[in-house]
Amino acid sequence: MERFKIFLLTVAVSVQVKSQDSTTEPPVQIPKPQITLNVAHKVLYKTERVTLSCEVTGGPPGLQYDWYKNSEDLGEHQHNITASDSGKYECKATKGAMSEKSDSYTLTLEDPPQPQVRSDWTEAFHGEKVSLQCVIQASENWNYMWFKGQNKIVSNDETNIQGNTLTLSVQSSHDGEYVCQAVLQDRKVTTSMSTPYSLTVRELPKPELSITPEWKTFYPTEKLTLKCSVKEDSDKWGYEWFRNGAPLPKDKDKDISFPGNTLSISSAKAVHSGQYTCRGRHLKRTPVTTGETGAVQLLVYDTTPKAAITKREWFELFYTEERVQLHCNMSGVGWKYHWYKGTNPPIINPELTINSVSHAHTGDYHCKAQRGDFSVNSKTLQVRVQARPPASLTLETELSDIMTGDMTLRCNITDGRQWNYTWFMNGQQLNESSNVLKVAGNEETIKSEFKCKGRNVVRPLYSALSDGFIANNIIFKRKILLAISGCLVCCIVILIIGCIVLKITRKPEVKETPHTDLFFSMTDSKNQTASPMKEYIDSSPTELEELQEKEELITDRTSVVHEDGVIKDEETPASEANGLTSFKGR
Ligand SMILES: *[C@@H]1O[C@H](CO)[C@@H](O)[C@H](O)[C@H]1NC(C)=O
Ligand SMILES: *[C@@H]1O[C@H](CO)[C@@H](O)[C@H](O)[C@H]1NC(C)=O
Ligand SMILES: *[C@@H]1O[C@H](CO)[C@@H](O)[C@H](O)[C@H]1NC(C)=O
Ligand SMILES: *[C@@H]1O[C@H](CO)[C@@H](O)[C@H](O)[C@H]1NC(C)=O
Ligand SMILES: *[C@@H]1O[C@H](CO)[C@@H](O)[C@H](O)[C@H]1NC(C)=O
Repeated sequence: MERFKIFLLTVAVSVQVKSQDSTTEPPVQIPKPQITLNVAHKVLYKTERVTLSCEVTGGPPGLQYDWYKNSEDLGEHQHNITASDSGKYECKATKGAMSEKSDSYTLTLEDPPQPQVRSDWTEAFHGEKVSLQCVIQASENWNYMWFKGQNKIVSNDETNIQGNTLTLSVQSSHDGEYVCQAVLQDRKVTTSMSTPYSLTVRELPKPELSITPEWKTFYPTEKLTLKCSVKEDSDKWGYEWFRNGAPLPKDKDKDISFPGNTLSISSAKAVHSGQYTCRGRHLKRTPVTTGETGAVQLLVYDTTPKAAITKREWFELFYTEERVQLHCNMSGVGWKYHWYKGTNPPIINPELTINSVSHAHTGDYHCKAQRGDFSVNSKTLQVRVQARPPASLTLETELSDIMTGDMTLRCNITDGRQWNYTWFMNGQQLNESSNVLKVAGNEETIKSEFKCKGRNVVRPLYSALSDGFIANNIIFKRKILLAISGCLVCCIVILIIGCIVLKITRKPEVKETPHTDLFFSMTDSKNQTASPMKEYIDSSPTELEELQEKEELITDRTSVVHEDGVIKDEETPASEANGLTSFKGR
């Protein structure tokens, strides 16, 4: 504008001069001087050196100049002066008595404005690209300089200065205060430093990936959840999921969803197997992502096998008192096992152990492996229990035993197999291993309880234990019987001897008196001689009857003894009967 005015004035003056020239011969006149600047900048700054020239167009030679600033004589007499202050400048051209003053020229030198640092970041994550701008309220073509603290920043791999923008690939060393300065290189104008701008560099948080439940192999339809979490400022982060390194597509699989920081698989399938990773993505600064987490390797099986039942010593048929051990096993971890028999409440244990099986344990067993809502059943196993072969203990009555007072006990197991035997007296095991036990009948043994059982090398390894047997007064009775029998035999022998003696001593009498009643007496004598024999013969049945009666008596007594519960343990009457049969059968 200023320049334009000057130009107009110049034109006006020259036109005037020309018109004067053309009209009359000039009395020497000095044209009005004009003050011009050597620069055309719109804004001039204090640090600049500006040259003001006093132009007198077409003036006579030998002009003298005077300069005034704010109407004060500067004492400068050059055609041009260097000004470094704002003010109202005037110049005067003088020749002889003539002089002409220019219009005043107002020179304004401004302080350069202070630049400001602007940025969207006050904190930045390591690796993030951050830009700072140096902003100055002036339209010149400034150059910019950046300083971190006292040090001038030069462009390198991590810093780049382009125009007024400083771009940082943030390193932890970039944490600090930044200032900038604008420069007009050719005019030697330098602004003051901006106010410091503080940038905080933060390390990128490391997200953590966890899985619930904590195992990593799954069966179809199981549920699981992966959780990705950035600990600090967790609300500022979103999450991205990857399977085998590729981003998981959204909405492609209805069984997978990943809202918030979790990835939920509502029903596992084999295709869900793979390596899962995740990373955090800053919600505000979208290009900012954390590194990926370590991978969780998931394996989802194609099919669900049945829970395996492991049987220890499994037999189609168990004998009572044998041990039944069933083990339920499902591959993988986290299983709880439940054992079921029929509709009974479950037994919660991976192992079902019945230490001494009985008939009541017969039934169908199965187990269920369970974790979370998911469960798998095993096959059904049938446990069947049968009784052990019974052992029966009998007392044998042999003549030699009756004579010596011994007892012969026999153990009989009637399943047709070969057995070895174990004998017990009052619960104490004896050395005998054959099926017959001979014991001397004495005070102690007749009161003792005997039992036997079979032993074998193939199952069943032993038979049931026989009922207990207590001889008690059987031996005593036997002795009485023996005594009675002995007496009877003695009597008979005595009788026979008596008869013989009689016969011999009567023989002469018979010869001396042979008369009519000889026949009679013969018959009589016959009767008489026959008498002892006859008596014997006649008496024999009665004596035998007596004997039998006694036996019966004894039998009754023994049965009474049995009934009295001396042999309390006896439950099978067969054994009792056996014992008695054997006794009777003598
Ligand atoms: C100012 O004056 C000096 C001496 O008269 C001269 O050398 C110089 O070129 C002048 N500068 C301008 C911009 O006119
Ligand atoms: C359970 O089964 C797995 C294989 O399916 C096997 O490795 C493991 O030893 C079994 N565990 C038991 C206690 O039997
Ligand atoms: C064993 O008992 C059975 C029937 O109980 C019988 O038939 C068999 O004769 C007995 N054996 C002996 C040696 O007593
Ligand atoms: C059984 O026999 C062994 C030797 O074979 C002997 O040392 C032990 O004393 C016997 N036990 C009884 C109760 O007789
Ligand atoms: C009985 O015992 C003997 C010797 O200990 C053994 O050799 C045999 O196999 C056993 N027999 C049975 C049927 O247990």
